[in-house]
Amino acid sequence: MGYLEELKRYVGFDSQDVARLQRLHHAAASELAAISDHFYEVLVEHEAARAVLTEGPAQIARLKRTLVDWVSSALTGPHDEAYYERRTRIGRRHVAIGLPQQYMFTAMNVMRRDLHHLVEKHLPDERVAAVDSVDRLLDMELAIMLRHYHLEAEERLVRRERRSQTEKLTAVQTLSAGLAHEVRNPLNAAKLQLELLERRLRRGDGDPRLLDAAELVSQEIGRLSKLLDEFLAFARPADLSANPTDLIGLARHVVELERPAAAVRGVVLSVHGPEQPIEANVDAPKLHQIVQNLVRNAAEASPPGGHVDVFIESIDGGVALRVRDEGPGIPAEVLSRIYEPFFSTKEGGTGMGMAIVHSLVRLHGGEIQVRCDGGTEFIVQLPR
Ligand code: HEM
Repeated sequence: MGYLEELKRYVGFDSQDVARLQRLHHAAASELAAISDHFYEVLVEHEAARAVLTEGPAQIARLKRTLVDWVSSALTGPHDEAYYERRTRIGRRHVAIGLPQQYMFTAMNVMRRDLHHLVEKHLPDERVAAVDSVDRLLDMELAIMLRHYHLEAEERLVRRERRSQTEKLTAVQTLSAGLAHEVRNPLNAAKLQLELLERRLRRGDGDPRLLDAAELVSQEIGRLSKLLDEFLAFARPADLSANPTDLIGLARHVVELERPAAAVRGVVLSVHGPEQPIEANVDAPKLHQIVQNLVRNAAEASPPGGHVDVFIESIDGGVALRVRDEGPGIPAEVLSRIYEPFFSTKEGGTGMGMAIVHSLVRLHGGEIQVRCDGGTEFIVQLPR
């Protein structure tokens, strides 16, 4: 049930209310302008309310007219979705001008008292019921007004939260990219020395068993180098060099490169999209990495004989890239962590693949979503 329907049910606003309010409007239409004048007379008595009305008499004259429209449409209805949409706009407008929400209560009471007077004057026979109808109507109006204060505050909170997360992430990325760079130099030196050592061992200088130990160290260094490379791809303060790029061509290219490795696992890769190119302004090497990581993960999650499908399509204002596999899906408890750096469920995985994808998609101003229903589908949406 929509918000408005729920609200009507809650305050008990029904067709009888609508009929009474319409009778009131019919009898008192010519007096609504006076109500509007009175409303603003009371309003400007209060200095804080006056402070919001910054544009002088012309603004008040305009507001008086909009208030007459407001009362008329509230009394006559229909109280449908379009009505709710208009009320939403009015509510948002008050939030935008910085009107404190407590003024809404007193302002609505001014309106309430004046409408009660009109009921007494014009509908004496159904006075009690019609006063109730007015109250139910104004309660709904007030609820909608206040709801938008609430929604606005929530949205502000989410924006602030998102900003602070981004700032934190950027700080951690900068710090750790610096550290990773520093680690790389001694690691390269160690690798060089190890190669010299291995060469001498092979020539027979010393205990041949040491060769196995050296091989082990070499593998460990290799792993560490790979981790550093991937980590730097995630953490390096990123600069985007965007150019018009055909995403279908790019996806085909990545899939051709990944096909042999997938074939070894018995997994079939395909790209689906229209014949003509779909262009978007992207950083091609970074997008290559996004597609490659997604396709590689999908292929690794697939059972032998499984299919990985890549779809490229135009959407409203952008492009969507979907990568779907026929694997077992991602367990719910894992789902919320898949973009965390170093989080991996794969044997030997560095846990950087999806963190890189996430960071590069966000860098493009895009969004990534995941859907698990009989397999896994990653959906990347990028602005054009
Ligand atoms: C019962 C309470 C109120 C109702 C029904 C009401 C109604 C309206 C309506 C219909 C609009 C036009 C919105 C649009 O479509 O752009 C509006 C705007 C506005 N209202 Fe209210 N209002 C109420 C309370 C107040 C109060 C207490 C103030 C305090 C000063 C106020 C100040 C304004 C201002 C400054 C604007 C924007 C005017 C502009 O566009 O120049 N309103 N209001």
